[in-house]
Amino acid sequence: MKITATKNGPYLAPTGGRAVVGGEVIEKAQVAFCRCGHSQNKPLCDGRHKAAGFEAPAMTIELEPG
Ligand code: FES
Repeated sequence: MKITATKNGPYLAPTGGRAVVGGEVIEKAQVAFCRCGHSQNKPLCDGRHKAAGFEAPAMTIELEPG
């Protein structure tokens, strides 16, 4: 699985079309997880990173089954 940390924004994780996060069903190709700490809907990103002026580099995280 590849997770993308966007520049100055959230982690994007692919779902394959559906994910269950804290009991909430999300039917999207990817889910955005907060990494700035300002979301009012954690663990999901709600866009507040922009107003907060969050800065962090983009990077790719690859998870491989062990
Ligand atoms: S990364 Fe978007 S609200 Fe935190």
